[in-house]
Parts: sequence; C-alpha cells; structure tokens
Amino acid sequence: MLGPWRSSVSFFFLAIAPFVSAGHSFENTAIVRTVELGGTVVHVTTTYAVKALEDGSNIYTIALGQKEHEATSALTAKIKGQMAPLEVEKLGAQDGDFQLYDIRLPGYLKAGGTTNLVVETVQTHVTYPYPEEASQKDGQSLKYEADLLVLSPYDTAVQRTKIRSPFPQIHSYTEPNVEFTEDAPVTKSGATLTYGPYKNVFPSANKHFVAEKQQRIYVHYSYDHPVLEIVKLERAAEISHWGANLNIQDNIHLRNAGPRLKGHFSRLEHQSQAFFQRSAPHMLPGLTLHLPAGIRDVYFYDLIGNVSTSQLRTAPSVPKGSQNTQFSVLELKPRYPLMGGWNYSFTLGWDSPLADSAGWDQDLGKWIVGVPVMTVIPGTVIDEEELKIILPEGATEVEFFAPFPALNDELSTAVTYLDTTGRPAVTLRYKNLTDTHAGIVYVAYKVPFSAHLKKPLAVATALTGLFVLAFVWKRVDTRIQK
Ligand SMILES: *[C@@H]1O[C@H](CO)[C@@H](O)[C@H](O)[C@H]1NC(C)=O
Ligand SMILES: *[C@@H]1O[C@H](CO)[C@@H](O)[C@H](O)[C@H]1NC(C)=O
Ligand SMILES: *[C@@H]1O[C@H](CO)[C@@H](O)[C@H](O)[C@H]1NC(C)=O
Repeated sequence: MLGPWRSSVSFFFLAIAPFVSAGHSFENTAIVRTVELGGTVVHVTTTYAVKALEDGSNIYTIALGQKEHEATSALTAKIKGQMAPLEVEKLGAQDGDFQLYDIRLPGYLKAGGTTNLVVETVQTHVTYPYPEEASQKDGQSLKYEADLLVLSPYDTAVQRTKIRSPFPQIHSYTEPNVEFTEDAPVTKSGATLTYGPYKNVFPSANKHFVAEKQQRIYVHYSYDHPVLEIVKLERAAEISHWGANLNIQDNIHLRNAGPRLKGHFSRLEHQSQAFFQRSAPHMLPGLTLHLPAGIRDVYFYDLIGNVSTSQLRTAPSVPKGSQNTQFSVLELKPRYPLMGGWNYSFTLGWDSPLADSAGWDQDLGKWIVGVPVMTVIPGTVIDEEELKIILPEGATEVEFFAPFPALNDELSTAVTYLDTTGRPAVTLRYKNLTDTHAGIVYVAYKVPFSAHLKKPLAVATALTGLFVLAFVWKRVDTRIQK
C-alpha cells in the first residue's frame, strides 16, 4: 500500500519543482518521429539524438506546433532505454504558433557529449471520419492532420517522420514540396509513410520559420475498429468502513465518433452481417471491460432500465501490493448496436471489499484508500471526467494525491441518506484522458472511532423517530367527518 502512495507523492512534488537554470546550446544529430494512427487517440514518439555544444548542459528545449500542443493530452520525456521520467516544464506563451517545453536531463553534458531523448505524447481528436457519412454496408475511413516538420530551437542535421496505420489501406496522403531534401519528400511502404529524411533544418522554433516553412499534411486511411469517445464520465467512489465496502459507480456518456449512419438502421442487414461475421467497422456491438478483481453486485442500467445481456467473469480478490494483475472481465452489451454518430448513456457500478484498496498507515495515523481514475477502454478518449470520492462520515484531515494534476479539485461535504453530519468528498475534474492516464488517486484521512458508531446510531434514532411518529399518529383523529 505504502509503496505506490509514496512514489505518487514524490512524483507530485517533482512535477512542480521549479527549474533553476535557463536553456543551453545543443544540436540535433537526428530527430525521428513515429506516429501510430488510431481512432480518437494517436500516439506519437519523438526521439532526439542530441549533442551538447557547451559544458554543463542539462536543460534541453523541445517545441510543439500550436495545433499539436492543443491536441496533446499527455507528454512524457525519458532517456532512451531508461524508465525514469524526466522533469518537464511548460514555458510561457511564445510569439508564434508553437509551444516550448524545457526538459531537465538526468546529468550534465560536456561540450560534444551526446544523449538520446525520447518524448512520448498522446494526441486526441486529431482524426475525423472522412467521408462524414457511411451506410451500414460501407467501410470506415479517417483523416489525420498534422504539421510536416518537427520544430526545434536547435539546428537539426536530419529529421524524418514515420506515420503508421494499424490497417493496411492508406487511401491518400499529402506529397509536400520540401526544400530540405533532393529526394522524394515522402515514401510509402505497406501501411507506413515516411516523410523525410529532411537535412540541415535550421532552428525552427520561431515565428519566421513556422510562417514560411511549416506545412500541414493529411493521411486518409481505412480504420476497421469503432471510433469511440466518452463525452462525459462521472465516477463516484463511496468508501464505507461500516460496510467494509468500496462502491464505484460510473455514469458514462458514450459516443460512436465514426461516420454518421447514412439512411436508416436496418436490423435485418445487421443480423445478416453478424451472421457472416462481417459487421460494419463503424458499428459497436459491445465492449470488453477490465474491472477490478474481487468485485460483486455488478449492475448496468440505462434510461430504460436494467440491461441483462452482458456477461461477467469475476476474478477473486488480489492481496494488496501483490504482483498479481488479475481482473474481472465484463462483456458489456448495450441495448442496441451503436452506429456512427449515435450516443449511449448508461450507468455501471459494483461493490468491492474495502480491504482490497484500503490500508492503515501507522506513521500518519490515517487510512489510505486508492481509487482508479477510470476503467480504461483502449484507444478511447474521455473528453471530460468528474471523479468524486466520498469518504466516511466524520472523516477529518483529508489529503489526496493524484497521479497527475487535475484541472480543478475541491473538498466538499455531501449529505447522504442516514448521515447526520454529512460526508466529506474529494472531487477531481479532468479533460482529454486516455489510457496513459490510468492512474490511482490516493486519499488519506482520519476517522475518529466514534464515527464508526454514527451510522448504527443514526439508524436507531430514525427507527425511534418512526415509533414515536406512529404512536402520535394513532392518537390524532384525521377523519374529516365523525
Ligand atoms: C482537449 O482536447 C481538445 C481537442 O484536441 C482541445 O481543443 C482542448 O484544448 C483540450 N482541453 C484540455 C483542457 O486539454
Ligand atoms: C435492476 O436490477 C436490480 C438488481 O439486479 C434490482 O434490484 C432492480 O429492481 C432492477 N430494476 C429494474 C427496473 O428492473
Ligand atoms: C450525441 O451527443 C452529441 C453531444 O455529445 C450531440 O451533439 C449529438 O447530436 C448526439 N447525437 C445524437 C444522434 O443524438
């Protein structure tokens, strides 16, 4: 229990530690960018082969184009082959269409010293269905748009960008005019496009370069999985020491972000396609979710009522801190197959033994409970999330540690059924979450011993109240006429 909590704390402070020195001089011997195309989520890995031009260099600056920066929901930097993330600091607004980030290298480079820096980013909403409409029989294609050149404040000897499609068919792509090469500006090999190599690119993170040399490119590709988006996720996690239970309930507003369905939905067509196992790629028949081990009383309902067509295989509880990564598998089937442009709102919830995610910290004298930020649906963006962790009644000295900063957070008090004083709640709000954000929020708090007794006391008082009421009621004559 303590391990992950401690490390998340140190990460938290690391991320906000200020930088002490400004940028140094480098050159890029090579930059290679790899773009893994997807549905609503696109993963980008950029490797910078870096050479220091002066002694004592340890702050390297990267640049993202403005559109790219706005679409980037996560950014991590590492030294190639190492696990530890490096400190990244976003710099203030620049005069031009780009955003700079300072990265602190793990050591100081001497002049001529080299290192390989790997920057991974996740982009959301950078693709769109094209054509925008498709009939039930049609395939599904998407367009991805991006900037051609990787920007950098330093000279770059050679750079290239590889764009990989997960499915073999690339319909079309931009063939740009580029001054940094004598050869073909782009080559295609199977499902991979390579833009570059482009040679001797001078410092490009400046207004002039972006205006004169940068260009947009697009790739039009076939995509055979449903393109999913969670427009809104409201997760409520309710901790009960009295019931030794952790209840998690998700209100999910799911959208099929594929091409809008052209014409009417035909169930006959759907059934014949399903029979021949050739369902339209833009149709979502169901989802397979990995839920925690040890859960029970799983429920799934939508606006109409309970949906009972799903299947659940639960895994037994896993001891805390064990390396065992078992999970329960839910094959969730909505009431109807979800076509492109359609929405489906539903509620999914479950109970689990509190002991699976709670621990007592002797040093702090506090309970610590871990609540996952979300249930990951691979390749799906969560546009907006509100995560509410409701603590036991009477909990005090509440602290919480998020795996990454929330857009905003608050500590409030909610009064629920049978509560006498209300229950403190921590609410975190996020935007544009993807599978890289699958972390755990830890909440630490004290519960006075008397708090454990409050609920039975409240029940007892409520019952006594009813007795008294019933007693009085009998003596009052409510008949209008005698
Ligand atoms: C979320 O993503 C959209 C689309 O990429 C972007 O316009 C918006 O600025 C992002 N919001 C945040 C808070 O990152
Ligand atoms: C839904 O199922 C739960 C238990 O599985 C049950 O308590 C509840 O009454 C059901 N609701 C409806 C509307 O059928
Ligand atoms: C689905 O929801 C989005 C907003 O989240 C809305 O713009 C759209 O019209 C909805 N689609 C349908 C078919 O209701």
